[in-house]
Amino acid sequence: MSKVTVVGAGNVGATCANVLAFNEVADEVVMLDIKEGVSEGKTMDMMQTAQLLGFDSVLKGVTNDYSQSADSDVVVITSGLPRKPGMTREELIGVNAGIVKSVAESILKFSPNAILVVVSNPMDTMTYLSLKTLGLPKNRIIGMGGALDSSRFKYRLTEALDCNANEVEGIVIGGHGDKTMIPLTRFATYKGFPVSNFLSAERLEKVAADTMVGGATLTGLLGTSAWYAPGAAAASVVESIIHNQKKMITCSVLLEGEYGQNDLCIGVPVILGKNGVEEIIELPLNADEKAKFEASAAAVHKTNAALKEVGAL
Ligand code: LAC
Repeated sequence: MSKVTVVGAGNVGATCANVLAFNEVADEVVMLDIKEGVSEGKTMDMMQTAQLLGFDSVLKGVTNDYSQSADSDVVVITSGLPRKPGMTREELIGVNAGIVKSVAESILKFSPNAILVVVSNPMDTMTYLSLKTLGLPKNRIIGMGGALDSSRFKYRLTEALDCNANEVEGIVIGGHGDKTMIPLTRFATYKGFPVSNFLSAERLEKVAADTMVGGATLTGLLGTSAWYAPGAAAASVVESIIHNQKKMITCSVLLEGEYGQNDLCIGVPVILGKNGVEEIIELPLNADEKAKFEASAAAVHKTNAALKEVGAL
């Protein structure tokens, strides 16, 4: 029996729960929200697709009743406010810090062994806050931003190459912010060949720039944060853990010396398996990439410092 709880039945949480059930990632998926009836309604709606789509996972919606999340293997935290057009993810820190902390504490009362996947923004800082306040080992706290940003990078590569979505590879490291993420164009491939064989330096720069504002572009179009890719990205992180797939996915994790950084959660490639973060992969970055990573780390440190200002740490 595997069980996953998704906290937050907003667009991202509901999409994540839907993907988890549709892909039968877990036997049981619980979705919890503070708004009376929303989780119950959305999960009932999803369960009514079970025969249509042919999945056997069971979804259950609850209002604020954390006892229903008991003994979850993995818990996805999407709670908090999404950003509005023109807002940065960092501006959400004051409101979301309190929410994320209290949600995580309530979860751990009933699922002391759960692995936590943090989605709430500013994601790297919410991951760091969870790490600092919950007393869990670092392998059990994972921020999902890089999974999403890498997926957006691959989308932009696919667009530039005019190729099939599943024929490109590429990752984004660094912070999950419009200015802090680093699409690693040098390592991106199309059918195993470096994309620089097919795309000019200028086109690759545009791919990287479009990737970095991926979330802001959608917020501008939709009037609120995106949800299909964020929800699916979180579900892909959960899947690698629950099914012990040992996939290499970029996630925000605590660095203790890796990439020359300490006391920081930021996006780097990791191996995800049944223990959560099984390994951190250190890439051979060149001088330019290293400089970008250092600038990104400095920006995330600065956002983390705001946790003290808002009294969350
Ligand atoms: C985004 C939000 C979820 O990037 O951070 O769409």
